[in-house]
Amino acid sequence: MSDRATARLTNYRALPKVELHRHLEGTLRLDTMLDIARQHGITIPEDVLRLSNLVQMQEEEKYSFQNFLSKFNTLRLFYRSPEAIHRITREAIEDAAKDNVRYLELRFTPVALSRAERFPLHDVFDWVLTSARDAAKEFGIIVRLIASVNRHESKELAEQVAWVAAENQERGLIGMDLAGNEAEFKSEPFYGVFKEARQAGLRITIHAGEWGPAANVKEAIEELGAERIGHGVRVLEDDYITRLARERGMAFEVCVTSNFQSGVVPALEAHPLNQMLDRGLNVTLNTDDPSISRITLSHEYHVACDDLGVPMNTLKERILAAAQAAFLPEKERGELVSQVKKDLKF
Ligand code: ADE
Ligand code: ZN
Repeated sequence: MSDRATARLTNYRALPKVELHRHLEGTLRLDTMLDIARQHGITIPEDVLRLSNLVQMQEEEKYSFQNFLSKFNTLRLFYRSPEAIHRITREAIEDAAKDNVRYLELRFTPVALSRAERFPLHDVFDWVLTSARDAAKEFGIIVRLIASVNRHESKELAEQVAWVAAENQERGLIGMDLAGNEAEFKSEPFYGVFKEARQAGLRITIHAGEWGPAANVKEAIEELGAERIGHGVRVLEDDYITRLARERGMAFEVCVTSNFQSGVVPALEAHPLNQMLDRGLNVTLNTDDPSISRITLSHEYHVACDDLGVPMNTLKERILAAAQAAFLPEKERGELVSQVKKDLKF
């Protein structure tokens, strides 16, 4: 990286940040993976470069959702003990805090974490929530958790996740998310689960309009009760749905580099972030899977401003918009908004 690029990144690092869309399973450090593999006898390449091929997008590989999602096949091998889950959660929060993220909604996939060792879902929730609470205190950052279910899993498993999530609302578990392969799996089997989750008081965000069409954004809002949309960049393909989303003030959790690396857009410069802003959509900027993409949220702010030409003032407005779209109770959300406003010197 040139001196100028480093200096610019330092400026973005100094900004107070709000992250609404980051997957725990996409935040593992390479060194930590190697340590856990050694401790638990997991057979993976022992040198960092070869491991990186398996768990991070490489410049020379085809940028497609299949390649992007394939990284999770290796990433899921590391949830071998409560200690491993504790370490991964703690480091994810430490890394966010170091990047000056003040408020983090971290999502995790309980079924994926429980699978390697058949851990009970209750235990997985307990370990992640306890570790997140302690790390938030240690690193001085506000953290809330969202439970993700993947589209290719059964609705029965999703129901179990929703039950345990609902029971843990007092412990920082605030929402549910539908993630995974949007191109090949429908949301319909999950309508009932998300309705129950909503009725239990959980907040809802849905990956939609990423690898699937704009109609999926409408479905997420109307059938799944989404209050925010993960990605949603393809909403622009439909004028009516774009207007619907704008009128409802739906927050979009946009992840620019992830969209490029997973084949949503053919080049970073082709990302429709500016069109979304021009259409008056409530855009927020996020990382998705920072270790797969080898990015930080500061890097994403830099891409938005320096590669896509978003003005600094608009970036600050979007950080504030993310605080306003936080899944916090009204009073806490108001406090977060005031603090971010003050720190951004608005
Ligand atoms: N899980 C992790 N990253 C994802 C993405 N970008 N889309 C859908 N599911 C995901
Ligand atoms: Zn995501």
